Amino acid sequence: MRLFSVRLIVSLIVGVMLVSLCSSGYEVWVGKRSLRRDMQRRSEVLAESLAGSVERDIEKHAFQTLQKTVQHFANRENLMGMAVYDPQGHIIAITDDLASKMTAAPPVVLETLKENSEADAFQRLANQPVHICVLPLYSPSQFLGALAVVHDAGYIRDQSMRIWRETFLSGLVQVILIALITLLIVRWSIEGPIARTAHWMRALRTGRMPSSRMASPGEELFPPLAREVATMAESLNTARTAAEREARLRAEGQSQWTAERLAADLQARLGASRLFVVSNREPYMHMRRGKSIEVRVPPSGLVTALEPVLCACKGTWLAHGSGTADRESVDKYNRLAVPPDDPRYTLRRVWLTKEEEEGYYYGFANEGIWPLCHIAHTRPIFRAEDWEQYQAVNRKFAEALLEEMKDTEKPVVLVQDYHFALLPRMIKQKRPDARVAIFWHIPWPNPEAFGICPWQRELVDGLLGADLAGFHIQSHCNNFLQTADRVMESRIDWEHHTVQRLGHKTTVHPFPISVEIADLALSPSDPSAYDNRSALLKNLDVEALFLGVGVDRLDYTKGILERFLAVERFLEKYPRYQGQFTFVQIGAPSRSHLKRYHDLEAEIEAEAGRINWRFQKDKWKAIVLLNRQHSHQEIEPYYKGADLCLVTSLHDGMNLVAKEFVATRNDENGVLILSIFTGAARELPDALQVNPYDIDQTAEAIRTALEMDPEERQSRMQNMRRAIREHNIYQWAGNLIAELCELRLDNHEKAEGKTRLGSSAV
Ligand code: F6P
Repeated sequence: MRLFSVRLIVSLIVGVMLVSLCSSGYEVWVGKRSLRRDMQRRSEVLAESLAGSVERDIEKHAFQTLQKTVQHFANRENLMGMAVYDPQGHIIAITDDLASKMTAAPPVVLETLKENSEADAFQRLANQPVHICVLPLYSPSQFLGALAVVHDAGYIRDQSMRIWRETFLSGLVQVILIALITLLIVRWSIEGPIARTAHWMRALRTGRMPSSRMASPGEELFPPLAREVATMAESLNTARTAAEREARLRAEGQSQWTAERLAADLQARLGASRLFVVSNREPYMHMRRGKSIEVRVPPSGLVTALEPVLCACKGTWLAHGSGTADRESVDKYNRLAVPPDDPRYTLRRVWLTKEEEEGYYYGFANEGIWPLCHIAHTRPIFRAEDWEQYQAVNRKFAEALLEEMKDTEKPVVLVQDYHFALLPRMIKQKRPDARVAIFWHIPWPNPEAFGICPWQRELVDGLLGADLAGFHIQSHCNNFLQTADRVMESRIDWEHHTVQRLGHKTTVHPFPISVEIADLALSPSDPSAYDNRSALLKNLDVEALFLGVGVDRLDYTKGILERFLAVERFLEKYPRYQGQFTFVQIGAPSRSHLKRYHDLEAEIEAEAGRINWRFQKDKWKAIVLLNRQHSHQEIEPYYKGADLCLVTSLHDGMNLVAKEFVATRNDENGVLILSIFTGAARELPDALQVNPYDIDQTAEAIRTALEMDPEERQSRMQNMRRAIREHNIYQWAGNLIAELCELRLDNHEKAEGKTRLGSSAV
């Protein structure tokens, strides 16, 4: 750094000196030229004004008068004197002082006498710089000689020297100032941040970095560099945590699933093959915002769960490109590498027309299958046109997938969710060598409930094209097996949970989905987010002592209205909490294009308003509704600052908010209140479990949570964290893919001869 500063300063000094020398030289040259011109002009004027009287004196032979005249002009300012010559160059009259210095006629005088024309010259006389201006003299009839006016030109040299001196001194002052300022800038703005960054990197390398200080300190210097370093630091920290955890687990003789273990496991299982994931929702949406494009992560449990899996195994994820600037962000194959900050896998976007999206996504999937599978008392709507679009879009995705995997032998395909019930059959028909699993993220109802769907046979048949069908819990598997038994010609093996149909076997097993748990130990230097909850509330303009939180898409299955009623009942039953307990509902608007969802958003807002109006006092509010999409980073402080989290779904496949809340609480504090109608309730018996339809019971759970003994609270949270640690998202993916890869593809050999690799119309 010192060498850099010296180099920088020396270069600056040399540069500034050169510039100042050049500009001084120019200034001297300009000044000298103007002084010379001035002197020439003055000499000419003087010579011309005297010429008339000198000519008269010569004509009259009045040589004494002439001598007096030239003597009269001796030593005035810079005027040294004058001389008058006859046409042969002999002196007629000359100023006394000049006589000794100018004994012979100078060349410029001889030139005038010869040419009969005016001339001037700068020259030296007895080692002194002078200017001589010569004018020819005439009478009306003859040439009389020449008049020479001699000026001392020494002051021009003095002036030039003065300019040189002054500009040199000002240049020197500039150099000193610039060097000093540069030195200070280098010290404050470069050396300081670099030293802090080096210190920060040393702390990072030696593992002495508290997680609260992960942001790079060099932010003010080179923002893009600082961002990269911060990302690298995060990756390093994650890798170190994972390695430590692996080492700890190895020492304890256990084996927990981690990103590294999943990556290694997948590599071993996939070999030369690759993983392909298909879902409707994409993990990253590019949205146009004014003139710029921003990347958004949509509010989806599916996205939260699958992102770490794809990152671990560098697969390809096919999804509907639904962002307003999605088309501008892909290559010519409709692909892009994601995550944008740290690309790890390929996202292949599939484009849908408005009609397709309307019929397949809004219509059949979300007005038909969604309410059909969630027992939340919203009537499913089945339209033949929607069904047509649903089939067409499944075909479109099948074509895109076949295209993507045309060069991969024995690809492994994970189809996600109720948007693609027909896809497994379409894929297996064309690529029997592919191992295909479908994971159904929502509940599967009993056969009677499912039976109202006019296309139940086609949906079940599509699913039975898969080698493996996964649900969150065993009861959803049982419901599916019973439905298959009822609607299809098939053989069910109740012991191994398989369905045999048309020579193809589908295994139906539960795989409870989960989340990633960072499990970072709380360092004593970390400020406790729980202690910061009043600051969090202050940002929302609310003052309260206790904080409850709910995080959901605004969906009628989530029981948000029931939750608000429970908060109201709690405040009514225990008025001492009025002014003390605030419930923050983070609600991301979802599927708002559908009337049911649009109406629900208005209902939720009205209900929050009604309850707030009933209890509101001073700076306190019962419910704060934040109805816009929040990023994980924005939600985390609420999870961490909350005394309790309310998950009151009326029916939910799993519910990852419950698991995310627990995963976030590395302070082992906070209480989870959880609906018994979620898949998560099976795995988290240490949550306070409630029937969300029972408003009094939920209200009572809120009180229990707030008044729970801290030790009990900690022990419940520890148990829940252990459960999630043991069954995390990597274990979910690892188990699902392991089981899929271990299945024997019984009809593959037969079909292999008939079907070549490659994509063809579905
Ligand atoms: O629960 C099913 C599911 O697909 C989730 O994976 C996800 O949270 C949610 O629905 C997303 O809904 P959408 O993609 O329609 O916004």
